[in-house]
Amino acid sequence: MAQYTRVSGSVGLITLQSPPVNALSAAVRQGIVDSMQRALSEPEVKSVVICGQNGIFSGGADIKEFGGQMSGPPLIPMIHAIEAASKPVVAAIEGIALGGGLELALGCHYRIAHSKARVGLPEVTLGLLPGAGGSQRLPRLIGVPAALDLITTGRYVTAAEALKFGLVDQITDHNTVNVAVKFAQRVAGQPLDARRISTYPCLCPPDVDVLFEEVMQRVRRTARGAIAPIACVQAVRAAATLPYNQGMERERELMATLFTSGQTRALQYFFFAQRAVGRWSMPSGARWDTSKPRPVHKAAVIGLGTMGRGITVALAQAGFSVVAVETQEKQLMEAKQAISGMLERGAKRRGVAPALDKINYGCNIQSVADVDLVIEAVFEDMALKKKVFQQLSAVCKAGTFLCSNTSGLDIDQLACQTRNPELVVGMHFFAPAHVMKLLEVVYGPKSSPLAVATAMQLGKKIGKVSVAVGNCRGFVGNRMLKPYLEQALFLLEEGATPEFVDQVLEEFGFAMGVFRMSDLSGLDVGWKVRMADGLVVPNSTTGQATRLRQGRRYSPLGDLLCEQGRFGQKTGRGWYQYNKPGSQVAKPDPWLHSFLDEYRARHTLVARRIDHQEVLERCLYSMINEGFRILEDGIAAGPEDIDIIYVFGYSWPRHRGGPMFYATTVGLNKVLERLEHYHQAHPDVPSLQPCDLLRKLVASGSPPIQKWREVIKKVRSQL
Ligand code: 3HC
Ligand code: NAI
Repeated sequence: MAQYTRVSGSVGLITLQSPPVNALSAAVRQGIVDSMQRALSEPEVKSVVICGQNGIFSGGADIKEFGGQMSGPPLIPMIHAIEAASKPVVAAIEGIALGGGLELALGCHYRIAHSKARVGLPEVTLGLLPGAGGSQRLPRLIGVPAALDLITTGRYVTAAEALKFGLVDQITDHNTVNVAVKFAQRVAGQPLDARRISTYPCLCPPDVDVLFEEVMQRVRRTARGAIAPIACVQAVRAAATLPYNQGMERERELMATLFTSGQTRALQYFFFAQRAVGRWSMPSGARWDTSKPRPVHKAAVIGLGTMGRGITVALAQAGFSVVAVETQEKQLMEAKQAISGMLERGAKRRGVAPALDKINYGCNIQSVADVDLVIEAVFEDMALKKKVFQQLSAVCKAGTFLCSNTSGLDIDQLACQTRNPELVVGMHFFAPAHVMKLLEVVYGPKSSPLAVATAMQLGKKIGKVSVAVGNCRGFVGNRMLKPYLEQALFLLEEGATPEFVDQVLEEFGFAMGVFRMSDLSGLDVGWKVRMADGLVVPNSTTGQATRLRQGRRYSPLGDLLCEQGRFGQKTGRGWYQYNKPGSQVAKPDPWLHSFLDEYRARHTLVARRIDHQEVLERCLYSMINEGFRILEDGIAAGPEDIDIIYVFGYSWPRHRGGPMFYATTVGLNKVLERLEHYHQAHPDVPSLQPCDLLRKLVASGSPPIQKWREVIKKVRSQL
């Protein structure tokens, strides 16, 4: 709702009241319409101020209302009525003015913002465009280039930046509502014609067509199949080329298309999923709201290779004191240089001083004695990690949390090496650790809620999206990656090329197909793991046995490449060829094609034509099937956890919501039916065998994803 009061005798003050972010729900819109009518009809009122309660102007349209029947007064006429008002209306912006909230402010005649406020039009991130006049008013107010930037990226700007753009008229460090009321008194009675943004001409730079072309190309390249960024460019183009009313009509048409698209449903789901993962729970019943974290002031990182360096940077940048330990002298020198460089570049981008003095380097584990939390990032070698955990347990003060960045080893085995196994959790970062947003916080059977809460909070403080998951081989992300990689190899055996498989996956929306991604990560990483698991049979290039392990189909293709020293980008050869080691430009490799031909001939495999659909279904449905197993096993508490992990850690296209949400858009019955089909064709591939939970969900009528937790609970209680 909105509260109406009269202040300072002549100012009508409308306060939006809809906690927590004053979203423009039907009740709020009704409140604004009623209050405006009152303010305009009261002769004593000479001007109006609109503000939001609790220091927040508005977080925009109420996203929760999007799925339902539209009720209450619509936003567009409401904003038009404010702009057309005969008395000046001033927006007092505190906290945030986002989406419809900023569009409301753009309908006001003046905008005053607190210096700490942030404004923006993030609709594109929800698969929409600023559909309440924002795409037409913003370019008229701040010019086409700046408006294109804000609308196509959805980025927020600070009050200072907004002032520079001319998006707000004044900023203040004082009480914004008081300043706005005084301002409103001052401008009362002044003519308003020049204050109605919809009447402004849209100022375009001389080369505006070139600009639109460039932005459209950039957007198409980076959108990876998302339609909203393209519609945003089209809407701003309408503002630049059409009179306001026609531009509004175009905005309406484009918005109507987006609003009914599957992409916006996926992105709205994703918006709420991001918030849901913060409300973590463990099978023991421990929860986010009953488990208090312990403050961490000083942390340590052990092992300054690829991951340790990134983790150190992430911690230092967030203001933590870090003890960074590396036993190899040469590695230590290189790490110091690399970390300083990363900190300096990051600080330059953000316009702050580099946090170099936050880090103390050492080559001895004894130097971590007084830290509150340790993150171990030594080689992926269980024996080595066990030794490090024994040492840490002996050296660290009582109560220190001991965390491992392992990609998939058993956290419980590490916990067993320590005096206090309840203080041990996994903190699985993704490379590059100072950039990638995802953190899997892995709890073992002995991990305490305190340790989980502390790791989750630390993740938040260093800007990560943290997801609490259970302990199993590969946790959630890497466990689901296994069948995906496996299917990709099987497809090569059956006749596909790496280029074709990658092209299909990239057209689906992945930033990189599975083979380009493997080349980037290094083929040797998985090879070492398979060797440790006893799966690699060296130099064995003949015979059926090489394609079977314990009765299951196995493809040795990756192992054979590694035997040839083809580790991917770092060696200049992998599934593709590169100009030189380290180069990122992948080119199809004729050698690899002949190698595949020879391999198939040796194993009497007849190459067949594999189509788009088969690549997508086998790679994605096997991965989704594993996701259902993960839910069944209780390793992830809900489908949202899996989807967040895949979007933030594995470049799953966000506009498809994540693998589990994608399954709902395909239809669970179709996923089940196709898995059954492929499993029949490949009975020696267990990952294609549909799991029980998927069958039960289909049997119970494929309930919406928000209801899966109830079915999972039932399935688990029957175990
Ligand atoms: N509608 C409904 N609920 C909203 C909301 C919105 N616009 N914005 C936030 N919320 C809810 C969140 O779901 C969350 O609910 P929960 O506590 O039940 O999980 C609660 O408000 C608090 O949100 P956050 O946890 O995200 O709190 P933060 O303080 O970290 O962030 C925020 C606040 C910056 C406002 C962030 O929530 C945000 O970015 N919100 C979305 C803003 C947005 O995209 N607005 C555009 C809407 S579309 C639109 O306006 C269309 C128009 O053009 C017609
Ligand atoms: P890396 O090989 O780049 O670095 C490991 C570092 O640990 C080396 O510098 C080594 O000298 C050092 N080290 C070894 N023993 C040590 C000890 N006892 N004390 C201190 N330092 C020691 O390895 P990387 O890639 O950084 O991986 C580290 C861990 O992170 C592994 O467990 C890996 O599985 C995991 N991980 C790796 C990812 C990646 O993409 N590289 C992604 C996510 C997790």
